[in-house]
Amino acid sequence: MTDTGKRRILITSALPYINGVKHLGNLAGSMLPADVYARVTRLMGHEVIYICATDEHGTPAELAAQAAGISVKEYCDAQHEIQRKAGEQFLLSYDFFGRSSGESNHRLTQEFAQVLEANGLIEERTSTQVYDVEAGRFLPDRYVEGTCPHCGYEKARGDQCDNCGRLLDPIDLIDPYSVVSGSHNVEPRETRHLFLLQSKLEDDIRSWVEASDHWPQLARSIALKWLDEGLRDRSITRDLSWGVPVIGADGNPREGFENKVFYVWFDAPIEYIAATQDWAEAKGEPEAWRAFWDTSAGANETEYVEFMGKDNVAFHTVSFPATLIGSKQPWKLVDKLKAFNWVTWYGGKFSTSQNRGVFMDQALDLLPTDYWRWYLIANAPEGSDAAFTWEGFQAAVNSDLANVLGNFVNRITRYTASKFDGQVPAAGTPGEDEAWIAEELATRLKALSEHYGAMEFRKAAAETRAIWAAGNEYLTRAEPWVKYKSDVDAAAVGVRTGLNLAAIFGIIAQPIIPATASRILDALGIPEGNRNWPDHEDDGLLDALPRGLAITPPDVLFVKIEDSQVAEWTERFGGEA
Ligand code: MF3
Ligand code: ZN
Repeated sequence: MTDTGKRRILITSALPYINGVKHLGNLAGSMLPADVYARVTRLMGHEVIYICATDEHGTPAELAAQAAGISVKEYCDAQHEIQRKAGEQFLLSYDFFGRSSGESNHRLTQEFAQVLEANGLIEERTSTQVYDVEAGRFLPDRYVEGTCPHCGYEKARGDQCDNCGRLLDPIDLIDPYSVVSGSHNVEPRETRHLFLLQSKLEDDIRSWVEASDHWPQLARSIALKWLDEGLRDRSITRDLSWGVPVIGADGNPREGFENKVFYVWFDAPIEYIAATQDWAEAKGEPEAWRAFWDTSAGANETEYVEFMGKDNVAFHTVSFPATLIGSKQPWKLVDKLKAFNWVTWYGGKFSTSQNRGVFMDQALDLLPTDYWRWYLIANAPEGSDAAFTWEGFQAAVNSDLANVLGNFVNRITRYTASKFDGQVPAAGTPGEDEAWIAEELATRLKALSEHYGAMEFRKAAAETRAIWAAGNEYLTRAEPWVKYKSDVDAAAVGVRTGLNLAAIFGIIAQPIIPATASRILDALGIPEGNRNWPDHEDDGLLDALPRGLAITPPDVLFVKIEDSQVAEWTERFGGEA
């Protein structure tokens, strides 16, 4: 523990859309780093909750259910279960994994809309929207595609251009066509919608963003660019049936809005709060959510950290804060926002239809979770996009995990079993080599904690590896197996130090590769309660294991990836074109 004391931390990762299993890039750009951060801060002794949910409303869910020939509700029930299970298998340590279609989110979304309206921030306006003459219906957002007016990309979706990332209004698309019918027979028609008057909140949002000078750079620059372009009032309802119904002040359907629902991007972030309420309810302390969200009930002392891909930043730095700030209620706003670039598949897009890329469910049929977690964090798309390649994956697993970490642990524990009765040796006094590794460890552990504090995941993985590598170098210097022949006590010091290093390696591995870390720590007989984050200033770290403690060598920790497997997987999932 550092001197900053115990903090209360709320962590959320962008809510994955309900439609379809997520690919490794989705995982790497939000849920996985959020999980690593949740794990490390818990180990540091902070009070942490990590909240996520499926984002279930909107056109993608409707379109997918339609394609599957089932009701949207049935579709969402099944898909939520699939994603919940995938999260569990990837060891994502959610405190709660909710659903934006749940009752709590409906209620809260409706409440927000009412408060915003009471504050003069919502107005009914007539807007022009694309109408599909053949299908006889309005085409919200993703139901219409066309050419992006900003960059000329020809398959821009109505709500956002996948090429330039700009948010779009469907009526601005050039040569629009209906996704429902495929028809180009579409025309602008008038319809009534609720508009959130973001223009009135521009100054408040700007001062808040400018005061948030500790946001990582990517998030901050996106937010400011957004504000510089000027905040437009935005429609927060849609002509759809699946979503949060629009109700009036009397609780009945709002007149003229009987066939409309709130826009998915209005209700989805509210689910962060609703899911926290569900978490509190589930643990039998229904008011416990307030400490995280209600600044009049302690949430001003909470640190709120959000994780997301870069396309989500505008929604989290402008739209959602507009809802919260506009309510004039004491809601907690994000403190740190960590945004990621994309993981690409050999520089291109993941694609189910073209068999390019590995999806979460397939990955675990190939190899255990930790192999993926390690590679994806060590290559997190932080400074720029990062390409997944089988060759890079193989190299990371074989070198970092199998050679550097796995061999160390297996070698030192087996040697202990064969020469020291499987016990932490008691004899001998530390010398020069031990002083060297102690200092190396202190410096590197400090750096590691700092990288995590700064949410620099690549650097954290690199430092973790560097610590494992330093342990290998220590054994090369100390050579207990050589010393054993002439001086058993000197060998004992080396083995004891090596076992303590293995324990530290396991402890610091926990955030990224939790399953293997447990195996290492179990083998070393370290009780659950003694696996906390190491204090780099503690000079007893290399003599922490009780002398005489019985240890059991674990089975091989990592199996190397063969060239033949790389060839086979390249064939199945795509590779270098
Ligand atoms: N489902 C969105 C996406 O995958 C993210 C929603 S984040 C939330 O891009 F805050 F709105 F929930
Ligand atoms: Zn574009």
